[in-house]
Parts: sequence; C-alpha cells; structure tokens
Amino acid sequence: MSYDVERIRKHFPALTEGAAHFDGPGGSQVPTVVGDAVARTLCSAIANRGSVTAAERRADGIVVDARRAAADLVGAEPEGVIFGRSMTQLTYDLSRALAKDWGPGDEVVVTRLDHDANIRPWVQAAEVRGATVRWADFDPATGELAVSAVADLLSERTRLVAVTAASNLLGTRPDVAAIAAKAHEAGALCYVDGVHLTAHTPVDLRSFGADFYVCSPYKFFGPHLGFAAASPALLETLHPDKLLPSTNVVPERFELGTLPYELLAGTTAAIDFIAELVPGAGSRRDRLTTSLRALEEHEDTLARRLEAGLRAIDGVVLYGSPERHRTPTVLFSVDGVAPERVYAELGERGVNAPAGTFYALECARHLGLGDTGAVRAGIAPYTTESEVDKLVAEIDRIAGEHA
Ligand SMILES: Cc1ncc(COP(=O)(O)O)c(C=O)c1O
Repeated sequence: MSYDVERIRKHFPALTEGAAHFDGPGGSQVPTVVGDAVARTLCSAIANRGSVTAAERRADGIVVDARRAAADLVGAEPEGVIFGRSMTQLTYDLSRALAKDWGPGDEVVVTRLDHDANIRPWVQAAEVRGATVRWADFDPATGELAVSAVADLLSERTRLVAVTAASNLLGTRPDVAAIAAKAHEAGALCYVDGVHLTAHTPVDLRSFGADFYVCSPYKFFGPHLGFAAASPALLETLHPDKLLPSTNVVPERFELGTLPYELLAGTTAAIDFIAELVPGAGSRRDRLTTSLRALEEHEDTLARRLEAGLRAIDGVVLYGSPERHRTPTVLFSVDGVAPERVYAELGERGVNAPAGTFYALECARHLGLGDTGAVRAGIAPYTTESEVDKLVAEIDRIAGEHA
C-alpha cells in the first residue's frame, strides 16, 4: 500500500477547520486516536506506579509501553528512554548532570545551526564549571554544517559535542554520524537534537552514533512532552540531583516527580499511528521504518514543488541549499515585505506559515536575518499538493502587490 494523504487527513479533526498547516515544525496537529488515549487514561482508574492494585498496574504498564514505543521509534533500548516535560527541560537536566565533573580546561562544542535548546544549556553549564565553549559555524550561503567545522575544534580537552540532527530553521541535515565519530575519536560524547528530524524520516540512534538523542512527541502527532534516549550503561555513570526517597534506578532517577501517564499513553498512540501511516506487517520498528520512508518521499515531493514554485516568483529569497537532502522545511522571505506581514497576510487567507527565528537565534543571526528571522513553511504528513499550490499562489500575490 502506498502513502494515501487523503486517508490520513481523515484522522485529524483539526483539519476540518480548513486552514492549511505549514506550522508543523512548531508542533503537528493531533489525530483522534492520540486525543482519545490521553482522555481515556485521565479518566481511567489510575494511581502511582506499582504492582498491588489494578490502578497501579495500569500506570506501570503505560510507562513500560511508552518506553518501548519511544525506543522503537528511534532505535534505542527501552531502559534508556527518559521522559520529561520537553526537550529543553531534559537538556537542561542532562547538561547539569553531565557537567558535574567538568572544570577549567574542559571544552564543549556547540553549533550555530542549532536551536537554542541545544546551545544555551551547554553554554550555561560550561560557565558554571569554568569550562570553555567552542562554536562551530555553518556556511551561511548554503546552510550546510561541514564535518570539519566541528572536527577542527576537537581536542583531548573536548567533553561533549552538541549538534542538531536537522535544523528547525533551514532543514539542513548535518552528517551526524561523521560528527559523532569524530567526537568519539577525541574521547567526547555526542548529544544530538532530534526534535526537528524525528517527524520526517526513520531514525536510528546507533547508526548516528549518538550518545544522547532527544526529541519531542508533540512534533510528531503526540502530546506536549519530550524524551531523551541513551544507552542504559551510559546513564548508569550519571548522577542527577534527585529527591532522597525517589528511586535511584535508571532511567527513573532522571525523571523528576510523577510522570504524566496520560501524555505517555498519548505518545504510544502517536507512535503506533505513525507505524500505520502505510499499513503493513512486521514488528512496530519495521512498520515505523516503512511508514516513515513513504512519508519522507511524500514530504520531499511536496517540498520540491514548494521550492520550485517559490523560486519562480520575483522577489522571493530562499535560504539553505537546494542541492542537499534536507527536511521538508522551507525558509524564505519576500523582498520589501516584513516576514511578520507575510505571516499575517497568509494567516488571513487560511495559510498558517509563521515568521520568526523559532529559537534558532544563532542560526538566524548567522544567516544575516538578525532577530527577525524569515517565513518558515514546513510540509507535514497531512499536507496536500493543493495546499502547497495555495501557499505559492498567495506568496505570488503578496510579492506582486509589494513589487
Ligand atoms: C530543533 C529543535 N530543538 C529543540 C526544540 C525545543 O523542543 P521543546 O519544545 O520540546 O523543548 C525545538 C522546538 O521547536 C526544535 O525545533
């Protein structure tokens, strides 16, 4: 069976409101099965995790199921999956745990391609410990981050490299496997931000060589929370601050307070939904891979159509490299029209494509877009060809009116 966007759209009540959603990189719309799983869990008999009552066992089962689902999605071990409020919160927590033994002379590498959530926690943790931050730059003309831009900064003093698997602003996909290999050669860990990438392609933490891979289910049909995946053996070496009575086992010792069981049930439902985008047989991991490959093809076709349409319009400037395989995220501006104005005019006509830096502040500044940024249009699993054509037609009109 192939990718059937009309069949998939029927699962999303939000789409009946009529807007064309190019705002997926900020958070996807949610299918009914996910909302139902959240509501069902909230209204069921539930207690704290345990094994005595049915309500305790329900909570426990939900956590175990969600770890398995998350592990299937990114190619990790369930015992290495940590849930948290968001990728930002998890990265702050992990940065503090990892930095406990950093000191003067130690170095961390961050990149200007990254979302601030994979920069600032490391910069601030380094500051507290007296460690040094090294900045890897991407090429603003192409949006590409060369492996050498990171490798050239590495030495035996490097403790950690933080890099994105895909830029949420440009869609650039750095060669994370090569970067992680270089980090490991230098004896450093590699912390990979998978928030933007995970929604668009099959992911395998091991082939990336990522020591940590972090993402956020609300970017791929799920509720608002985040998870980090790492090998349980690596997690055993870390000792986050925690309450005295709470368990010291891995991964639970990284999860502060009571987990949001209803959101975990929603996360499992979201991952099961992705596995069914293209119905097929096999393990959930196999079905996820098949579905995400088909999804990637669907999204890539639409992204190329969108880029070609925009490129043909006088006065439209596109950022990032058209030659490289990127996520289906298109950043552009219209000469003489403020991005905020383009965003507002599109919004009035039912096309949701926001403007800004989207917290990829260093990236926007390095592109010469300052703190204003540009307009971002992200293709999502429910995007159609006619929505792409509508966006292009609206930009053509806006560019024409302001020429
Ligand atoms: C690439 C990237 N990293 C990190 C984040 C932050 O994720 P969270 O909202 O889960 O903290 C985002 C959110 O937009 C993102 O796009």
